[in-house]
Amino acid sequence: MSKKIGTDIQIAKKLLVDNKLVAIPTETVYGLAGNALNPDAVAQIFAVKNRPFFDPLILHTDNFEKIRPFLKAIPEKAQKLADTFWPGPLTLVLNKTSAIPDICTSGLSTVGVRIPNHKLTLELLAQLDFPLAAPSANPFKYISPTSAQHVFDQLGEQLPYILDGGNCNIGVESTIIGFSETNEVLVYRLGGLEIEKIEAVVGKVKIITNNDSNPAAPGMLKLHYSPTKKLLLNSYENICKITDPSVGFITYKNKPDSKNTCVVLSESGNINEAAANLFASMRALDASNVSYIVAEIFPDEGLGRAINDRLNRASAK
Ligand code: TXA
Ligand code: MG
Repeated sequence: MSKKIGTDIQIAKKLLVDNKLVAIPTETVYGLAGNALNPDAVAQIFAVKNRPFFDPLILHTDNFEKIRPFLKAIPEKAQKLADTFWPGPLTLVLNKTSAIPDICTSGLSTVGVRIPNHKLTLELLAQLDFPLAAPSANPFKYISPTSAQHVFDQLGEQLPYILDGGNCNIGVESTIIGFSETNEVLVYRLGGLEIEKIEAVVGKVKIITNNDSNPAAPGMLKLHYSPTKKLLLNSYENICKITDPSVGFITYKNKPDSKNTCVVLSESGNINEAAANLFASMRALDASNVSYIVAEIFPDEGLGRAINDRLNRASAK
């Protein structure tokens, strides 16, 4: 394996302090990290990802107190969610001060922030006196990486170092929550923290995740998380009826009685395990010789909602 991949926090720290980029592990997906307070480092993130400047980045810290000075008044419900779920797969969109460079937030008056739940990255963040801006470490619109190798395969040449924290144990990106002017809780992206758990803390939420035209969440493009091959969605019952042997399948817990290449996401029917395996399975089938991919529609509850959201966007071509 390349020396670019390793577990040395001091190497990562030195690069970040020098305003270079480092890929970091989190419990959701790997991030492409740089000093959020340095416009130059942030510009490199957009360049490496080939990401349009209208799509804002989220900030990562190990301690809410470290970023509080960059934020305006924090809604009570936001504080409650942070206290309950951080570190964890939850991003809060909050009103920011001018200390966060505009390039980081695409000129919005808000910034997304989260404390990721990954030991190595928390140790790194604890040694930094600035937050890390980090989008998922994939080229724009492709599937997010859930291992150091995934990052290396696509961005390795452009990065000095990838901090290897193993496979991401949640495997889908964080749930993104914002607040309306009347302090209604808004869900901008379904993700690794289940809506059911959020509603148990703050009551009913409003889900506004789909589309290109939602100015509050400019990155929620309909086509996203997308393999190069065509991907379609169908019920397990219909997948079993497919007779073309060149089609690759992604299923939840069962395997059709055919010779087709099939990745089963969780034989025991554990939805969390299925989410953790989702992106790696999309990558594997994309790299295989199947003609196109048909994925099973998941139960629309718990992490099944985030899985369906990603599969829907991946199939939007
Ligand atoms: O799990 C995650 O959130 C991962 C890991 C690395 O932390 N990060 C991640 O970042 O998924 P990214 O950039 O791939 O997705 C963040 C999404 C973008 O679609 C962006 O549009 C949205 O968050 N976002 C960021 N700041 C926002 C803001 N101020 N208002 C609304 N949406 C925002
Ligand atoms: Mg992303």
